[in-house]
Amino acid sequence: MNKKLAVVGATGLVGRTVLKVLEEKNLPISEYKLFASKNSKGKKINFLNKEYTINELTETSFDENFDYAIFSAGAETSKKYSPIAASRGCIVIDNSSAFRMDKTVPLVVPEVNKFDLIKHQNIIANPNCSTIQAVVALKPLDEKYKIKRIIYSTYQAVSGAGKKGILDLENKETNKFPYQIYNNILPQIDVFLDNGYTKEEEKMINETRKILHKPHLKITATCARVPVLNSHSESINIEFEKDFKLNELIKTLENAPGVIVQNNFKNQEYPMAINATGFDKVFIGRIRRDFSVQNGINIWVVADNIRKGAATNAVQILEELLKNN
Ligand code: A2P
Repeated sequence: MNKKLAVVGATGLVGRTVLKVLEEKNLPISEYKLFASKNSKGKKINFLNKEYTINELTETSFDENFDYAIFSAGAETSKKYSPIAASRGCIVIDNSSAFRMDKTVPLVVPEVNKFDLIKHQNIIANPNCSTIQAVVALKPLDEKYKIKRIIYSTYQAVSGAGKKGILDLENKETNKFPYQIYNNILPQIDVFLDNGYTKEEEKMINETRKILHKPHLKITATCARVPVLNSHSESINIEFEKDFKLNELIKTLENAPGVIVQNNFKNQEYPMAINATGFDKVFIGRIRRDFSVQNGINIWVVADNIRKGAATNAVQILEELLKNN
């Protein structure tokens, strides 16, 4: 029970949600310490019915013995401070993209590949939000029907870009995004690579392959930012090696961990961003055959990108580590 946890980036959108999820879960942790940048030093935050003071993250922050740290303070902060924490014996669960593709770093969605947690060097990466909800849907289907190819088309909420993303939509401003997001759709998330894909699209492709342990899986992706406050929606087209019966495939998803199927099209029932917000499950609907290929389907996948796509997934990883201890 005498475990000590550092929450880094505790003032941010994801960090605050990490605190909320920790409050809900009642984990065997006896001591918490909250960190953010110099700007937030001394700020007060209510957590677990107590007032906590925000500490400035510095190179000596991990000199006191932490067992675990959850980092949600961006890739630059993670690159600098996670290795320091890890070298002091603290296990870091990192929400940024800094270490996700590092071969020594497990990239984990507990419903999909918690077995990858067995081997680590004190840094564990939390995948990109749009990847997390996708693989929760894909894993049970891959086990049963063997996925051959994936086409992702995403409709991602502004909260994925942090507080500044939300302000751009609410205030009809253009500070965070390259163009106005209000009353618009931007076919760009993150920066462009030389091949014309965006970094977000590359992340979805590479992270899906790593988590599913299918390094050569054929995947393509188009990621778009839409004027929705929270929860990402994804259209996923999947081609399988094996044939399937649609009703059995739907049952497979209904029985999958972390999934709620909402697929009653006759009643116009399907997942929607406004309904997924505040929940930890991945909602799947519009499940139908793709008649243009041999063994294909289309599905619509929605999840709260700040909870399941970031904070909840990180806390679930922590839960697994505490269980195994
Ligand atoms: P701060 O609030 O002090 O700037 P968001 O993605 O919602 O903008 O949140 C980013 C989080 O990362 C905030 O908690 C922010 O703290 C924190 N952060 C940013 N830069 C640093 C840094 N250099 N050291 C520690 N925390 C940082």
